[in-house]
Amino acid sequence: MKRILTLFAVLALAVSAMADEGMWIPMLLGRNEADMQKAGMRITAKDIYDINNACLKDAIILFNQGCTGEFVSGQGLFLTNHHCGYSYITQHSTVEHDYLTNGFWATTHFEELPCPGLTATRLVRMEDVTAQVLEGVTAETPEAERNAIVESNIKKLKQRAENGTHYKAVIKPFYYGNQYFMYINEVFTDVRLVGAPPSNIGKFGGDTDNWMWPRHTGDFSMFRVYANQDNLPANYSRNNVPYKPLKFLEISLDGVEEGDFTFVFGYPGTTQRYVTSDAVQLAANIENPIRIDLRTIRLKHYNKAMNQSPAQRLKYASRVASIANGWKKWQGETQGINRLEGVAKKRQFEERFQQWANDKPQYYKVLPQLKEDYDYLRPIEVELTYFSEAVRASDFMNRANTYRQLANEEDEIKVAATSSKLKEETEKYFADFEQHTVVDRAIFIETFLYMWRAGYAPYLGAENVEAAAVEAKLAKIYDESMLNNKEKLLKFLDGYTVKSGKKLLKDPAVHLYDQAYNMAYDPQKISTYRQRYQDIQRLMRLYVKGMMEMQPDVNFFPDANLTLRVAYGHVEGFRPRDGVYYKPYSTLRGIMEKENPDIYDYVVEPKLKMLYSVKDFGPYGIEKTTYDTTWTDSANVTFFDISSKTTKDMPVGFIATNHTTGGNSGSPVLNADGRLIGINFDRCWEGTMSDLLFDPDYCRNICLDIRYCLFIIDKFAGAKYLVDEMTLVSSK
Ligand code: ARG
Ligand code: ASP
Repeated sequence: MKRILTLFAVLALAVSAMADEGMWIPMLLGRNEADMQKAGMRITAKDIYDINNACLKDAIILFNQGCTGEFVSGQGLFLTNHHCGYSYITQHSTVEHDYLTNGFWATTHFEELPCPGLTATRLVRMEDVTAQVLEGVTAETPEAERNAIVESNIKKLKQRAENGTHYKAVIKPFYYGNQYFMYINEVFTDVRLVGAPPSNIGKFGGDTDNWMWPRHTGDFSMFRVYANQDNLPANYSRNNVPYKPLKFLEISLDGVEEGDFTFVFGYPGTTQRYVTSDAVQLAANIENPIRIDLRTIRLKHYNKAMNQSPAQRLKYASRVASIANGWKKWQGETQGINRLEGVAKKRQFEERFQQWANDKPQYYKVLPQLKEDYDYLRPIEVELTYFSEAVRASDFMNRANTYRQLANEEDEIKVAATSSKLKEETEKYFADFEQHTVVDRAIFIETFLYMWRAGYAPYLGAENVEAAAVEAKLAKIYDESMLNNKEKLLKFLDGYTVKSGKKLLKDPAVHLYDQAYNMAYDPQKISTYRQRYQDIQRLMRLYVKGMMEMQPDVNFFPDANLTLRVAYGHVEGFRPRDGVYYKPYSTLRGIMEKENPDIYDYVVEPKLKMLYSVKDFGPYGIEKTTYDTTWTDSANVTFFDISSKTTKDMPVGFIATNHTTGGNSGSPVLNADGRLIGINFDRCWEGTMSDLLFDPDYCRNICLDIRYCLFIIDKFAGAKYLVDEMTLVSSK
């Protein structure tokens, strides 16, 4: 039984033999080893992380700064999600060579596509540097001074670690700065696109199915890391060769059964497990509803445009995916927190903490002060939420932001450089202006209007002004701004000097943005806002320290911070709502059931249908024999139906109880022997509150079954040569 916070211990004990909360530090995995082995793991903590020998961690990479990937061949080939490679696939796509829609498979190394800017980072080793980072800090050191000391210590430590090596060092705080770890990394910069399925496989179900189970998305893509002749990181060069990883993952063809042990090894981004009830309330019940409403408006307009033409679909696909992703997650999160009565449960815990803390000078003021900070911050947070989700909703206002910066710039050289760059961007922006402006104008007007109605845009008119008048005002700003007049804008940029700034600030768009910005980011307000957050940081550090003292037997996992972690659990279905049980796996049959040629998200490739109809699944499919049920005749004699049914199908996805979050996308899902059985790509909607609170009844990660991935590469795309690079293991 994995120990979790007492807050949930009772609940967890009652509902599950294994509560699977936690994202653990690989270097300290020894603490979890016994528990993991009890849960079914057949390898050791050292097989996962070992400073002296090649181990599983050498097969894991951080893909850019937000996804995970894993090596599956000795030739630097790695897997990640389709949605992680999405922008690179899109970047290489045109309406003529639409790899996003049709898929892409390099048949030789020569055809692999360079992706400038993309990095793959491998962890060489990690180290606890708490003592060195906190050198010179005492319990009495004022927070600002503490930060300065910590910052300078970190700088020195990093320099020392990197000196004379090609490594990059990263130092991150854990438990709000009670502990620090240093990560020594190798960063590869020559990474090339090798393969991606067509988007109606890689993104099957689209945003309709996103965050949902049962799921049938073939969410994978493949890249290759290139290195110099010495197998070291190097910038793109035609002379580079495929990187030889110290370790790559073996792939198991055995598949999964309910109850099987699994673990996920990757880079979870952010969780906020230990924040107070006020912070949960603010996120789930105050900020989320605002964000959701404002994104609903944007999505409505983008979706309308995307349904009008393939060009518009391509243009908006990437941004809509990201807008819709948060929009949907927050809905699940808020519902999940409220279903769990998360705010009330946190309050109960806080009462217990306060009782414990009352006679402890170090701790008794922590919660009351946190409360005071949140009371102060709440209205500011709301205002800033409006700013980011409403003011910054349209391209129009984002451009106004750029021009406002230009207007305030006083350096003649910078001004010249920026204005000439803006001229180029203007040409590009106006290339499809006619279509785009319909969408952008509507988004601008509607989001501002929403914010004005809520009382957050007083500069548009007082409350007793008619909405129609405000709307007309906004339309006028949009139509009269020089930002929407190509000729005028280019001419203005042509002769632009520092002196032109004054005129630019009078442009209605720049002026509006300026008003909105000055209100939301009033310098004095923002400076106290920052101080309060610094104070929260200090208080949270004490709060978490106090929790640990109060419950010395609990193994606390540190919040995710985009460092390498191990989460473990088992394959398990769940009950999303009354009367419904979700089985833990999905198959190709479900894709055929969902097929709908009229709905973009549910179009199925003819070739996939063909493979399904002839059940040509190669070595990756499953075969199950079931027997018909018994029946009883009128004389009450029981017969057994001897006619058996054999079904062949192709596994597609499965769910498990591993605690994951954003950043874990693309992470390998491994079995008890440390072999690859799946690729993590999502969570079930009903459990998306797991960044704040984990509920073993509802929180499930969603994985692509590795057999489906192989089937698509081999049988669907005919790229068996890529599978041949991998090591497949089958015990059956
Ligand atoms: N929900 C997943 C994650 O948070 C996948 C998002 C990409 N897919 C999409 N349809 N928008 O990243
Ligand atoms: N889909 C997420 C990602 O991109 C994973 C998650 O939030 O569960 O990292």
